[in-house]
Amino acid sequence: MKAIVCTKYGPPKVLQLKEVAKPAPQDDEVLIKIHAASINSRDWRRMRANPFFIRLMAGGLLKPKNPILGADVAGQVEAIGSNAKQFKPGDEVFGYLPSATGRGTFAEYVCAKENLITLKPANLTFEQSAAVPLAAMTALQGLRDNGNIQRGQKVLINGASGGVGTFAVQIAKAFGVEVTGVCSTRNLEMVRSLGADHVIDYQKEDFTQNGQQYDLILAVNGYHPISDYLRALNAEGTYVVAGGSMFQLFQAALQRRRASKTGSQITYVVSLVQSQKDLIFLKELLESGKVIPIIDGCYPLRKTSEAFWYFEKVHPKGKVVISVV
Ligand SMILES: NC(=O)c1ccc[n+]([C@@H]2O[C@H](COP(=O)([O-])OP(=O)(O)OC[C@H]3O[C@@H](n4cnc5c(N)ncnc54)[C@H](OP(=O)(O)O)[C@@H]3O)[C@@H](O)[C@H]2O)c1
Repeated sequence: MKAIVCTKYGPPKVLQLKEVAKPAPQDDEVLIKIHAASINSRDWRRMRANPFFIRLMAGGLLKPKNPILGADVAGQVEAIGSNAKQFKPGDEVFGYLPSATGRGTFAEYVCAKENLITLKPANLTFEQSAAVPLAAMTALQGLRDNGNIQRGQKVLINGASGGVGTFAVQIAKAFGVEVTGVCSTRNLEMVRSLGADHVIDYQKEDFTQNGQQYDLILAVNGYHPISDYLRALNAEGTYVVAGGSMFQLFQAALQRRRASKTGSQITYVVSLVQSQKDLIFLKELLESGKVIPIIDGCYPLRKTSEAFWYFEKVHPKGKVVISVV
C-alpha cells in the first residue's frame, strides 16, 4: 500500500510517499481502507521533534520509531479479525488512533481496535469526518470533564479559530453557555458564524486586561501567563489549557495543586483520553447539525508534505485534511 513515511525529523519535505506492507488485522482489530485523515499539532510535533523530548517519547532519536504519522481516520471497514464483533466489512467508520497504538493514518490502510472507532456521522463526508476526532474530543473533554461546563455560564475560548477552538466554540454553545471566542482579525467573522456570542481580536485587545470575568476559560495554547488567566476568571472559575510551552503547562499543573488547598480557582491541563463513548457523543452532535467541522484545505495523500507546509505557515482556520481515496 502507499503511505506517507516520515524518513527523519525535520521540515515537511521529510514526509515521503512510499510503498509499504499492507497491514493485517489482529483478532480484535478491523482493517480500515482509509478515505481521509487530518493533520493535528501532534503530527506536526512528531515530524519536527518539537519539543526535543518527543524523540524519547516517539522512541527514535533520529527518526520516529513509527514513521507513519496521522491519528484521525475516516474510512471503510475492509476486513475484521476473528474476535471483532462491532463492525462488518463495508461499514463506514471514523476515529482516532492514540500514539501508543504505533499506527498512522496517512496511508491507504490502517488496523485499529474496535473501541477506537465508531460509525461515521451519516450526514458528513469522509473528509469532514476525518477532521473531527482528536480535535473535537480534546475540546469536549477540556470543556466537560476538566471544565465541568454548566448551562448559563460565561465561557471564553482562547484560540477559537483553529483545530480545537472551532469545535470548542460549537460544543460550548451546545452545552447552553455564553461563548466569547478569541482569535485574530481575519477569523473573527468565522468564529462568530460558529455561534460565538462575542469575539475578541487578540491583535487589538487583551481580554485579560478588559475587566471581564468568566466562569470557564479554555486556552488551546497558553498564550498568557497563568496569572493573567486567573485575573479573568471568577473567584470559583476554572482554567483549562490544552497546549502551550512546557513552562505554561507546568505552571497550570502547579497552580492546580495550590488551588486544591485553597478551594478557589481551579486549573487543568487537558490529558486526552481515547473514548468510544465520546466519539459516539460527537457523532450525535454532528448529526444534529449543532457542530460542523471547519476545513481550511484538503490535499491528496501524495501532497501530504505540502499540506504540512500549509499547516505550519498559514495558521489554518479549523482543520487541514488529507484525502486518500
Ligand atoms: N492536551 C491534549 O490532550 C491535547 C490534544 C490535542 C491538542 N492539544 C494541543 O492543543 C493546541 C491547539 O491545537 P490546535 O490544533 O487547535 O491549534 P491551531 O489549529 O494552530 O489553533 C491555534 C489557535 O490559537 C490562535 N492564536 C494564535 N496566537 C494567539 C494568541 N497570541 N492569542 C490567542 N489566540 C491565538 C489562533 O488564532 P488565529 O489563527 O486567528 O491567529 C488559532 O485559533 C496544540 O498545542 C496541541 O498540541 C492538546
